[in-house]
Amino acid sequence: MHALVVDPAAPGSVRLTEIPEPVADGDDVLVEVWHAALNYGDLNDARSGRVPPGAVLGSDLAGVVLRSGPSGPAPGTKVVALARGAFAEQVVVDVGSLAEVPASVDLAQAAALPVAGVAALRALRAGGAVLGRRVLITGASGGVGRFAVRLASIAGAYVIASVGRPERGAGLTELGADEVVVGLDDIDAPVDVVLDSVGGAQLVAAWQLLAPGGSLQSIGWTSGEPAVFPPYSTIGPPKSLTSFINDGLFGDELADLVRLVESGALPVELGWRGSLKRFADAAEALRGRRVNGKAVLDVVDNQPTP
Ligand SMILES: NC(=O)c1ccc[n+]([C@@H]2O[C@H](COP(=O)([O-])OP(=O)(O)OC[C@H]3O[C@@H](n4cnc5c(N)ncnc54)[C@H](OP(=O)(O)O)[C@@H]3O)[C@@H](O)[C@H]2O)c1
Repeated sequence: MHALVVDPAAPGSVRLTEIPEPVADGDDVLVEVWHAALNYGDLNDARSGRVPPGAVLGSDLAGVVLRSGPSGPAPGTKVVALARGAFAEQVVVDVGSLAEVPASVDLAQAAALPVAGVAALRALRAGGAVLGRRVLITGASGGVGRFAVRLASIAGAYVIASVGRPERGAGLTELGADEVVVGLDDIDAPVDVVLDSVGGAQLVAAWQLLAPGGSLQSIGWTSGEPAVFPPYSTIGPPKSLTSFINDGLFGDELADLVRLVESGALPVELGWRGSLKRFADAAEALRGRRVNGKAVLDVVDNQPTP
């Protein structure tokens, strides 16, 4: 089968190649992958060695079950999952990290949910109840950011979405942002919760905007810059900065996200879509900050209707 494997000698550190089909046993579920989504983390993983040379890259996939154990969904069921090695025509998935996808939900949209959607959902929940509270989301134009804007809006927050350039704010008001700002300089009142995926100077500025009792969830660090806190900026009424990592099993949150998509409450914005063969273009667009929302790769061409 075709798969995108890490190869430090290849352009972009990945290579499309043929590898043997995987074998699932026990309760594992074998999925034929129709679509896979690209995450910022995948770009890092290909270069950092976190996914070793020769291993298949990718985490987000949606497709159709080929084989299942006693507690998994029947063959033919449409599913979305978070699994290692998603950029391949077939992937073995832990039964606890998938959710069924109803007929009314497009599998390409479902594929966009796992890493970014679960991160947004978990980080928002970790920040506590947000009804009527001011929530600042940095990197709001990206995958995590757009899901976070919508989820915070559904939860009743006053949402401030921060982007890098005015055009990156396109569609955020429609998603539920009450304010769309470029950088953080124009925010004129404290915020109660911050979901930060930019790090560096923006994390420091967001910390300084945080109200007493507030919490900042540090999800990512796309700026790649150090965060330098001015002296005494951590002295004062208690507020918290919490680290964040997507780990464990993902099935419950994926099911929550699929239900929200099915009901129409959570639109999924695909800012880039193309064949797995065009991975390099997708990666360049994501790195170049030109994808509004998620980039989705079509893995199996000419999918039949299940
Ligand atoms: N901890 C976890 O488990 C977890 C889970 C998911 C994601 N993450 C991390 O969260 C971050 C966002 O992921 P994503 O998938 O949403 O990425 P994404 O879709 O590429 O979006 C990232 C956003 O960050 C902003 N950005 C990019 N480069 C920047 C730079 N040099 N300076 C300032 N802003 C920059 C961009 O917004 P503008 O162009 O508008 O500035 C972009 O929309 C990444 O660091 C990722 O690794 C972590």
